[in-house]
Amino acid sequence: MATHLGLIGGSGLYGLPLEGAEWREVDTPWGAPSDAILTGTLDGLPVSFLPRHGRGHVHAPGELPSRANVAALKALGVTDVLSISAVGSFREAMAPGHLVVVDQIVDRTVARPASFFGTGCVAHVSLAQPTCPRLSALAAEAAEATGATVHRGGTYLCMEGPQFSSRAESRIWRDSWGCDVIGMTAMPEARLAREAELCYAIVAMVTDYDSWLEGHGAVDVSAVLAVLAANVARGRDLALRLPGRLGPDAPGQAHPCPHGCDRALDHAVMT
Ligand code: ADE
Repeated sequence: MATHLGLIGGSGLYGLPLEGAEWREVDTPWGAPSDAILTGTLDGLPVSFLPRHGRGHVHAPGELPSRANVAALKALGVTDVLSISAVGSFREAMAPGHLVVVDQIVDRTVARPASFFGTGCVAHVSLAQPTCPRLSALAAEAAEATGATVHRGGTYLCMEGPQFSSRAESRIWRDSWGCDVIGMTAMPEARLAREAELCYAIVAMVTDYDSWLEGHGAVDVSAVLAVLAANVARGRDLALRLPGRLGPDAPGQAHPCPHGCDRALDHAVMT
């Protein structure tokens, strides 16, 4: 299967210099995605970019049409999805401005449609390894090539929001649950990507220390936005450096996926 990279991220990627760039409206059985999708090629590789919150940041994390987002990318032929998102950090060593290539996720969301399956067609895919190790390694390489400090591996606590965590919660996720970063968008996106048989990786950009760290005050939106604004070029640079690592002649070119992401339903459907 020909590799086609999907990017889900924020405003830093709106103006990606794709060859043959076109914003395409895509409809799906699960409704419209967050926004139109920017399609084109980069280094000869098909690339589709979806603004996760819509241009102008109109969708709150708990209201994202994640099923439509993943279905729309799948309908366009996407095989590999890189999610770029902002997170708070539970580790002093994972400082604002650093990038974390997440490899595990704890789902604390409570009110989001989280599956393509249901009555009439029951399926249980494995999420033991919720991100694709091959795509994650390539994303980490691309991230390192930007000059950023990159942490390979980390557990992402996905909270419902939209409010940030209390200090007590922040300390529980950090000290008792062993999580490394916290955000509001990885789930159900990762679940749905697996059900759609897509390779999926997350590069999380640390914007704050949430509220556990004495002397740092509690996270607020202005702190998050300030770090994101200062690192816009980095996110974009990362996105530009990935296609060359995935293209037809690159070592990362691997479909079928060695980890089975693209065959996740082979032994998962019960009815
Ligand atoms: N996104 C960025 N920082 C965050 C935090 N501290 N908690 C949840 N989501 C975030």
